[in-house]
Amino acid sequence: MRTLSTMKNLPNHVAIIMDGNGRWAEQRGLPRVLGHRAGTRTVRRIVEAVRQAGVRYLTLYTFSVANWERPREEVTGLLDLIGETVRTDGADLLKNGVRVRVVGELEDLPQRVRQPVDWLIQASRHNRDLNLTLALSYGGRHDLCHAARQLAAQVAAGQLLPEEIDEALVRRTLTTADLPDPDLIIRTGGERRLSDFLVFESAYAELYFTDVLWPDVTGADLDVALRDYAGRERRFGKTSEQIQHRPSPTSLSEAA
Ligand code: IPE
Ligand code: IPE
Ligand code: MG
Repeated sequence: MRTLSTMKNLPNHVAIIMDGNGRWAEQRGLPRVLGHRAGTRTVRRIVEAVRQAGVRYLTLYTFSVANWERPREEVTGLLDLIGETVRTDGADLLKNGVRVRVVGELEDLPQRVRQPVDWLIQASRHNRDLNLTLALSYGGRHDLCHAARQLAAQVAAGQLLPEEIDEALVRRTLTTADLPDPDLIIRTGGERRLSDFLVFESAYAELYFTDVLWPDVTGADLDVALRDYAGRERRFGKTSEQIQHRPSPTSLSEAA
């Protein structure tokens, strides 16, 4: 069988909305936080599968700005789990050449999460294999507002002209500035929405939805998503002929 790493049209950047932990736990009569714990095992599996497939960038929607509104014990449980997982899995990520980054409102995170995360960002900064980004206390609209405030301040200080604000500058001002746009956004757990994930960056991303709940997701599910992506034609507003470099009848007649 053809391995994924030799597959044509592999996405450069895969971003995943890891949804369905709570329902997975509820279906088993377990507290929701045990669904999140089961979800960390999937993170381990999928990071390794994505790395082995040869994908360069993986971004995981780990905790959204809106998730702060969940019941207190779930928020606390989730944050504990994130800190714990970064600690226990950090060494393996380092060994496997994974570079870790974080996007989101990091100032809002408690020290027990920030401290291990900051350590891993620093320790992994020379790794070149897979670029893993955790979206933590992340909201796409928040990120855009934050960028707008920064640019407005530069204009007010006379350092920037309003007409100098273009797509490239907005992009460089977002917390995702170091990342290429996502090529493929996968959402597990059955919902068909983006839930404030990569609002600006997802403009031309391919979307893939699966009903599989995140704790049940396997490398085989990832494989299916990557193959589905490989079969798509991304046109970015152009025609299929332009994308395939086939001269269209009009351009032939123009040339005549
Ligand atoms: C996703 O699982 C994880 C986070 C949002 C942190 P959920 O907790 O949203 O699971 P469901 O959607 O309730 O099943
Ligand atoms: C999105 O899932 C956030 C993460 C996966 C971290 P949610 O479960 O919070 O999204 P909604 O509330 O169903 O839109
Ligand atoms: Mg959910």
